[in-house]
Amino acid sequence: MSRLDPHSYYDTTQPRTRHLDLNWFVNFRQHQIEGSVTLSLENPSGGPMDLDTKGLTIQSVYGDNGQPIPFQLEEEEPILGQRLRLDLPDGTKSIMLSYVTSPEAIALQWFEPEMTLGNREPFMYSQCQAIHARTIVPCQDTPRVRVSYTALVTVPEYITAVMSAGPQGQIRDVAPGVSTFKFNMPQPIPPYLLAIAAGGLEARDLSTRARVWAEPEMVERAAYEFGEVEQMIKTAERLFGRYEWDRYDMLVLPPAFPFGGMENPRMTFLTPTVIAGDRSLVDVIAHELAHSWTGNLVTNASMDHFWLNEGFTTWAERRILDALHGEKASALRWAIGQAALDESVARFGADSPLTKLRTDLRGVDPDDAFSSIPYEKGARFVYVLEHAVGRQQFDRFMRKYIQAFRFTSITSEEFLEFLEKELPGTAAAVNANDWLYQTGMPSNAPVFKSERLDELTAAANGFAAGNQPDPKQVKNWTPDELLVFLQHLPRELDAESLGWLDQNFNLTERGNYEILVEWLTIAAGSAYEPVFDRVREVLLEVGRMKYLRPLYTALGRHANTRVRAKEIYAEGKPRYHILSRRVIESVMNKYDEGNQ
Ligand code: BES
Ligand code: ZN
Repeated sequence: MSRLDPHSYYDTTQPRTRHLDLNWFVNFRQHQIEGSVTLSLENPSGGPMDLDTKGLTIQSVYGDNGQPIPFQLEEEEPILGQRLRLDLPDGTKSIMLSYVTSPEAIALQWFEPEMTLGNREPFMYSQCQAIHARTIVPCQDTPRVRVSYTALVTVPEYITAVMSAGPQGQIRDVAPGVSTFKFNMPQPIPPYLLAIAAGGLEARDLSTRARVWAEPEMVERAAYEFGEVEQMIKTAERLFGRYEWDRYDMLVLPPAFPFGGMENPRMTFLTPTVIAGDRSLVDVIAHELAHSWTGNLVTNASMDHFWLNEGFTTWAERRILDALHGEKASALRWAIGQAALDESVARFGADSPLTKLRTDLRGVDPDDAFSSIPYEKGARFVYVLEHAVGRQQFDRFMRKYIQAFRFTSITSEEFLEFLEKELPGTAAAVNANDWLYQTGMPSNAPVFKSERLDELTAAANGFAAGNQPDPKQVKNWTPDELLVFLQHLPRELDAESLGWLDQNFNLTERGNYEILVEWLTIAAGSAYEPVFDRVREVLLEVGRMKYLRPLYTALGRHANTRVRAKEIYAEGKPRYHILSRRVIESVMNKYDEGNQ
């Protein structure tokens, strides 16, 4: 037996899947997907084959010649789920499994019409990364096993379905009241990139290969916000090579989506909180787009190498912004990332194994290990490599790296080996082993300095000491400048200072959620009464974990705000995604520890 991924039952000695054919009926009433999947094997094979499943009801399993295949669904392991053991007759080419998902499938979130902008149609979407694909399809749920796929998705006739795949048209007359959408994803993807959404959707074209999908109420604003996307794709192609996925479409989800964005190929999923009205949060698009190279083309072999995915992408995102908006803008993004990195290192402790880039997540749920460390420590490691050899040489290396490993899933060690081959001595010169295998931040971690950053930090320190910045000047600060200023303020301020900030920066009214939440975090942590209605509104509306965690944490600072947090959570819980609930509950458990 050889299991290489701590989060999958996939066994390298067993037959391997190459392609999936999905046939799904989306049951909005029952909150279930009912249907089948046919797994095509790389080679005709026989013997035991283990699949990952979680919460699935398996109705039948047939081989390609129509004979039933014996199967056994084992006891549930809390993180991995249930191993489905098949016993394949020799020469099996494909297996068809009929199954139903659980209404509690972690990968799916369902909304009644009242919970959408238009109040007309229900809505559902999936989020499979890192190990939740197994809650919607029985499969070898490890990024090592890349698969192409086709899908037939049947939905009520007034619903539009989209997937992380090329659209292949719609069949309208399959049965009364329903229609079937067809999809094809010819490139092999890791199972975590399988994605579906369905609801009352409308699209706007942004270029010949990019379009945005959203509820009709939101689609115009989304089209403006992402109007720069074709330029971004071209810039990324200049840096990293041809865009290999044909189309780059985007989908704006309901605000309960627990992430900022998800790089589902051909269909990036996005939180509506990135629609600030002034394109100030398009770094999320740069990031998800960059995954088309660093991630979707070359991904991590398991979550122990997640930094290969997010670290490279965070670095790539800043190279795109640098090319589009200049060095000053990207320098501020590095500084903003530093605050997130510091928070994560402080949360885990600098000597926690979770601060290593190369992790050992046996027995650890990837959702619990999630933090800014693979992103920001990872990106800093790539930056250090880039600067050790110079940008030109490193860019050549990057293109070669992407070409060498395209459509594969690799480990940190495979990366190091390639690095040594292509840029001999560089790993040693930058202490790569410290970066990958040691906790905390290495001594050669870059410190991002810029004049603007110094000025803003000085302004923040000055404010804390009682010197207010000139109100006329602050009117001209960009959103990122204001964000950096806020990040450098103390986490608690007196009511007078808070009043001044809100009056001069109009913070409570901001449409930019990065700024709004940074402000509300300080104000809520200071038990500043005038913001509480807004804090409550944001917490009841938005499910993005990046915002929920600091806000609920800030509310934990004072006894009276802890009570409010618990009230708000009780009200908001039914609308939160399961992952968001888990984060909030872990934050609140610490409230109680602190009280004892
Ligand atoms: N792939 C991630 C989101 C993710 C990671 C989902 C792990 C599930 C498990 C995505 O690319 C991401 O990093 N999103 C960020 C965007 C930001 C870094 C610009 C987010 O959601 O905040
Ligand atoms: Zn990412």
